[in-house]
Amino acid sequence: MARSGRQQSKGFRRAMNTKQICRNDVVHVEIEDLAYGGLGVGKLDGFVVFVEQALPGELVAARIIKKKANHAQAVVEKIERPSPFRVSAPPCPLFGSCGGCTWQNFTYDQQLVWKQKQVIDTIAHIGRQRDFEVMPIIGSPVQWRYRNKMEFTFGVDGDGQSVLGFHVPGRYDRVFEVPACLLQPEPLDIMLAELQAYVREHGLEAYDPRTHKKFLRHAMMRHSRTTGESILILITNTGELPEKEQLAERMAARVPGFKGMMWALYTGMSDVARIEKEMWRWGEPELIETVNGLTFRISAQSFFQTNTEAAALLYARVVEMAQIEPGERVLDAFCGAGSIALHCAKQGACIVGVEMIREAIWDARENARRNGIDGVTFLAAPMDEGLALAKNAAGGEFSRIIIDPPRGGMDKRSRRGLIELGAPVFVYVSCNPATLARDLLEFEDNGYKIEAVQPVDLFPHTYHIETIVRMRRAQEG
Ligand SMILES: C[S@@+](CC[C@H](N)C(=O)[O-])C[C@H]1O[C@@H](n2cnc3c(N)ncnc32)[C@H](O)[C@@H]1O
Repeated sequence: MARSGRQQSKGFRRAMNTKQICRNDVVHVEIEDLAYGGLGVGKLDGFVVFVEQALPGELVAARIIKKKANHAQAVVEKIERPSPFRVSAPPCPLFGSCGGCTWQNFTYDQQLVWKQKQVIDTIAHIGRQRDFEVMPIIGSPVQWRYRNKMEFTFGVDGDGQSVLGFHVPGRYDRVFEVPACLLQPEPLDIMLAELQAYVREHGLEAYDPRTHKKFLRHAMMRHSRTTGESILILITNTGELPEKEQLAERMAARVPGFKGMMWALYTGMSDVARIEKEMWRWGEPELIETVNGLTFRISAQSFFQTNTEAAALLYARVVEMAQIEPGERVLDAFCGAGSIALHCAKQGACIVGVEMIREAIWDARENARRNGIDGVTFLAAPMDEGLALAKNAAGGEFSRIIIDPPRGGMDKRSRRGLIELGAPVFVYVSCNPATLARDLLEFEDNGYKIEAVQPVDLFPHTYHIETIVRMRRAQEG
């Protein structure tokens, strides 16, 4: 139980009741839960306090940094009773300031326990259903240096210097330099350091998100866990990239397995690592990855799950949960480079995949060829337009539809269009429990019942979690 404001110990500013709690007050609170997003949740006489870096079971003295009508946010001043699951020395020196892997202070076993709980709570809280089977979470076989793709941002630091790193938490206009990252393979640490040195040597300026002027925007680095090769995609505003040949050659000389580089333009306003136009390439800026015996070509623009080893477990489970029999007609909606589609095709299913990134569809077709798989059709279209084409291509009703949308989930038209296809079984793969639960509601409203839920951890040391849900259309009559 939390101690109320009246019981604050001497030496801390007193808060007589929760209405009087102010910014900078220090409160003593017991952490009862973890919110999606990773913050510890405590209560003071029912008033919710979200505490950064506090773990369930801990008693902490926490300083209020934001106060709203029905909740406050706080940072730990002192851990008065630590959790037995607290990791006393998180391995990354940037822990606490980076905002990236905020659960480094929590044992991996407990991360899994809480991720499982968050999936169940979110689906049950936002959705209406309670009676579905939840399978034990599948952990990641690799817990450090597991990411095959990193996106770094160019920006200015507190001294106004152009740097390459991550956003300062809560600041769209401020970036701090990242010297290395424990989530990326070692060759990408070297690539990062070399690129930072190149930017300094040439005095290049980072894009300014306030004025939308200046040059350097994002660096996307990808690495194949299968071949050990790496590529760099440098995204800029309009301008000229100086000595680009030398940059690529420098990478080839210093980064083991460096395979290629692309310089690409993005002039839009959003702060995303997007490729609008390819400007120049060196070597082969694409990778080969093998998962569950299937080989995939992945071009610079194609999506691929960022944790290759855990993705192998995810895809195997998707196929099992979809209960695919030979000859089944399957739609892989949001198919990327065809990873789920080709796993299903191996079971003898006839597949249609729909995806809006043209380059990913080219990869998907090439990937079918590479693996000697027939009976697959890949269509490049936004989902709301692609579904009619998919239906025609299938030549009959789909018996299974697998959906794997981006974090934001599906837009209304895509949701409606997919539900109207009327497949008896849907399998929804999601990296965001909140948008998953929202989308599931619409399926529920249209007669689908959640049968099984499988959490899979693709993102150790972060609060992120992947979930697979199987839904079945209720029998009529
Ligand atoms: C989470 S990824 C899944 C890709 C693939 N299933 C995999 O596991 O590799 C989501 C994919 O949806 C695509 N996408 C996003 N919005 C889309 C839309 N409106 N229509 C079609 N595809 C879309 C993205 O380009 C991306 O490839």
